[in-house]
Amino acid sequence: MMIETGGSGRLWLLSGPGSSYALHLTERDELLHLHWGRRIALRDAEALAADPLPAERPFESVLDGHEEYPVEGGPRFVRPALSVRSRQVRGTEWCFEEYETAADPAAGHELRLHFHDSLHHLDLTLHYRMRPGCDVVERWTTATHVPNGHRDPLELLRADAATWTLPHRDGWRMSQLHGRWGAESRLVHGPLTPGERLIGSRRGHTGHQHLPWFALDAGDAGEEHGEVWTGALAWSGSWRIAVAALPDGRVQATGGAGHDDAGLVRLDPGDSYTSPVFAALWTGGGFGAASRAWHAYQLAHVVPGGQRLRPVLYNSREATGFDVGERQQRELARRAAAMGVELFVVDDGWFGDRAGERSGLGDWTPNQDRFPGGLKPLADEVHALGMQFGIWVEPEMVNPDSDLYRAHPDWVQHHPGRRSTEYRHQLVLNLARTDVREHLAERLDALLHSAPVDYLKWDFNRCFTDPGWPGERYPERLWTAHVEGLYELIDRLRAAHPGVAVESCSGGGGRVDLGILARTDQVWTSDNTDPLDRLRIQHGFSQLHPARVMAAWVTDSPSPMLNHRRSSLRFRFVSAMAGVLGIGVDLLDWSAEERAEAASWVALYKTVRPVVQHGDLYRLRPPGEGGDLSAVQYVLGADTVVLAWLPAQAFGAPVPPLRLRGLDRDASYRDVTTGVVQRGAVLAERGLRTTLAGDLDAAVFHLRRL
Ligand code: DGJ
Repeated sequence: MMIETGGSGRLWLLSGPGSSYALHLTERDELLHLHWGRRIALRDAEALAADPLPAERPFESVLDGHEEYPVEGGPRFVRPALSVRSRQVRGTEWCFEEYETAADPAAGHELRLHFHDSLHHLDLTLHYRMRPGCDVVERWTTATHVPNGHRDPLELLRADAATWTLPHRDGWRMSQLHGRWGAESRLVHGPLTPGERLIGSRRGHTGHQHLPWFALDAGDAGEEHGEVWTGALAWSGSWRIAVAALPDGRVQATGGAGHDDAGLVRLDPGDSYTSPVFAALWTGGGFGAASRAWHAYQLAHVVPGGQRLRPVLYNSREATGFDVGERQQRELARRAAAMGVELFVVDDGWFGDRAGERSGLGDWTPNQDRFPGGLKPLADEVHALGMQFGIWVEPEMVNPDSDLYRAHPDWVQHHPGRRSTEYRHQLVLNLARTDVREHLAERLDALLHSAPVDYLKWDFNRCFTDPGWPGERYPERLWTAHVEGLYELIDRLRAAHPGVAVESCSGGGGRVDLGILARTDQVWTSDNTDPLDRLRIQHGFSQLHPARVMAAWVTDSPSPMLNHRRSSLRFRFVSAMAGVLGIGVDLLDWSAEERAEAASWVALYKTVRPVVQHGDLYRLRPPGEGGDLSAVQYVLGADTVVLAWLPAQAFGAPVPPLRLRGLDRDASYRDVTTGVVQRGAVLAERGLRTTLAGDLDAAVFHLRRL
């Protein structure tokens, strides 16, 4: 990775192992994009910079589609990345001030371009960072209202993290991960037609509807070939990415915090705003290479302790609902430990007056009837059984029927005089308020001191609907300040309790993004634990995020949550083994035979876990709408693991072999279970033969290079 400067100090070339990104400043301080794609040399970038802009025409902008960060105002008609309003004027006109580069062997190389708008007294810095060993370009923006002897504030209506400019191609296809509750992160592709495609959330959290991710290709990329440009926003609140196909065929994607442009923050003189990071990468190796690059980046540079393996978890949520109690949890813990479980989690129901959804949220002390001695006796027993101990919390929420709400009704987001929406009988606390954060930090800290807790499942079960903040002079900032408050709270707890892992959950996968993953250890992928539906959810999820953060549970059959599908333990385990394995069944109801079979799956998972959680992922065959075979492969060093699923065998057709990837063609591979040895080239060309047959069959193969 390196950053080179050319063009008399007005051109920059950022290069990773396989790609380059170049930009330059014209004499008129226009910051123009030059290149994003295969690696080029500095002299190539300088040659690109020598190309003049097209001639001006009254109905067109010569800047549109070329600028690194289009601001509002002047000869531009594209959606602005920056929109600033002061009492006198709206829009931005900047002068370039200076640039800086910084290099740190661990953190990477950073380029900062400083601009100033003298009318607004606004300093604007565009940041670019490349992490070691990665082709990911991280971009973000900072805006500072410089003290100037006046007291008038500035308003940032919009301040995107970055605008990404694509090269010229004859046509474009956009891929996105869309969904809803119980059906998150499903991959769809479609041609990018002229106009704009908007994805985002105006719900206050990342949302189940779209992952903040896009991929663009010229329609010719496949799983293992072709150019792919892909970006992901590191933000857990409302957000927007606008992908525009401009009239001249140029394509740009701009994105940042906030969905609408109705006001992000107010900057008094001396105040600053820092946007979230918008990361992006180019690869010439198709969607598979793009995913592997994203996974490696997150494990090395985003997820805390990404190189540590995640434990096998047990959670009784689907089995017991809110009806949790100490005796029952102890018995479940004994059975879970005997099956090889490593982390035992008590879900919703252990605290306050929490008999169901209607009460108790906000009162983070153990329920006296259910846990008379607090959580410590159970946590100690779980530890004595050789497992870690975890609990569920939902700190950002409160039930109106709770001691916290009775004491502080003003702590919730609300518009005085308006009806509040009580989704799931709960209201959202205003984490933008310091007193609310202080209270939560103190309560959660006391909780973590009261019992040896190793893990928090941090849930968030409703969207913002009443984002009022009485008494605040600029209530619009609640949308961003809540998220910044959440980040601060988690960061503070993690610093005080470094041994505690955190899972991000939001009614399943409603808060999955690079921002939350920078401070959590894994995410709850979906409340839908049906093993067949999960294959498609996991397929989409894997486009961006690694298996190491994707919690996946085996639950009871018929599938209790959604569709009552019946499936074998084998199918359920192999489906969940594609991520961080968890078990969510009613162990009190399971026979000794079922528990013994589950124990053998857990043992198998542990042998393949390093390869699944840290290996390179190859999606061999995607899960389809119909009954087709699907499979994934992971490669780590000499080890290869293949997970394969056959939903339904049609017409007695033979199940095709799986052509493996990422192997050494000249080496031989031994199947760890059967001892059969096969050549790498044979596994790649003819493929790995499976014995899959019938309906909902699945298999695990573990091969080791000799
Ligand atoms: C929603 C989560 O996604 C579930 O796993 C469970 O923790 C419930 N909340 C508890 O209320």
